[in-house]
Amino acid sequence: MTTPTNEKNHQKVLLVGDGAVGSTYAYAMTLQGIAQEFVICDIAKDKIKGDAIDIADATPWTYPKNIYAGEYSDAKDADLVVITAGAPQKPGETRLDLVNKNLNILKSIVDPIVESGFNGIFLVAANPVDILTYATWKLSGFPKERVIGSGTSLDTARLHKFVGQELDVDPRSIHGYIMGEHGDSEFAAWSHLTIGGITMKEWMEIHPEVTQEKLDAIQERVIKGAYEIINLKGATFYGIGTALARISKAILSDENTVLPLSVYMNGEYGVKDVYIGSPAIVNRKGLKQILQVPLTSEESTQMKISADALAKVLKDGFE
Ligand code: 2OP
Repeated sequence: MTTPTNEKNHQKVLLVGDGAVGSTYAYAMTLQGIAQEFVICDIAKDKIKGDAIDIADATPWTYPKNIYAGEYSDAKDADLVVITAGAPQKPGETRLDLVNKNLNILKSIVDPIVESGFNGIFLVAANPVDILTYATWKLSGFPKERVIGSGTSLDTARLHKFVGQELDVDPRSIHGYIMGEHGDSEFAAWSHLTIGGITMKEWMEIHPEVTQEKLDAIQERVIKGAYEIINLKGATFYGIGTALARISKAILSDENTVLPLSVYMNGEYGVKDVYIGSPAIVNRKGLKQILQVPLTSEESTQMKISADALAKVLKDGFE
């Protein structure tokens, strides 16, 4: 067994936003025993106290955890601040429709957290996540490596789920990425999707029943994945709550894991000055490296279209 380097024994996470996504994330962190200290912050003061007590009731069956309702000032010695606070997407709304409402909320969060002396990593999940991650980076003045968004991690999980169902293969044996905006302009980088090391192209040669039309339908279902759930039950939270726990573990345990996240682009993929979904290596210091996968010219165009859509929102709404 290798001993992880730089791994602190005591890890503290502060969550801002105790809605459905935040509380599901807190619960996922508890079930998986990630971080020893977990602070929940929200303007709904009774709700955070209630959730802290309720989730602590799960700890005798799972892992020890000091979970409590707190304040932004508790971020002072936190390793990770996770932001899920914001108005959620309603039926018929796109993620980008939320930008103005959630930018104001974000400012009221990031400023006091920075003032607390927080010196860890921001992980942003509130939507539109790519825009709000950029805004967190700007507002905080932190280096880009210490501000990360959940990006296309959930969309990629949805891709693996649907491909796994179509091919009847464990989704954990499928490796590939949804890239671009966490939203309507995202796309599947099919040229890099592998099934146990076999490319999708090779798989299709052996299994002619898997057609391009089926792959197009999978991509469409991923893009519409959130809308499907929101129309059925009003919100999505289990998928993103679990994705956030996975990202938190990769960061806190210094894993150097590759995950599809919203990261700052400085010319990678021909894209500049936006946060956008791309595979990236993360560890205790945050972003270690953007993994620049060679895309086909069609995929590369899709990445640029997606980045342009985000750049337009940043130009109109933020600067
Ligand atoms: C999701 O994709 C709404 O962004 C959220 O489930």
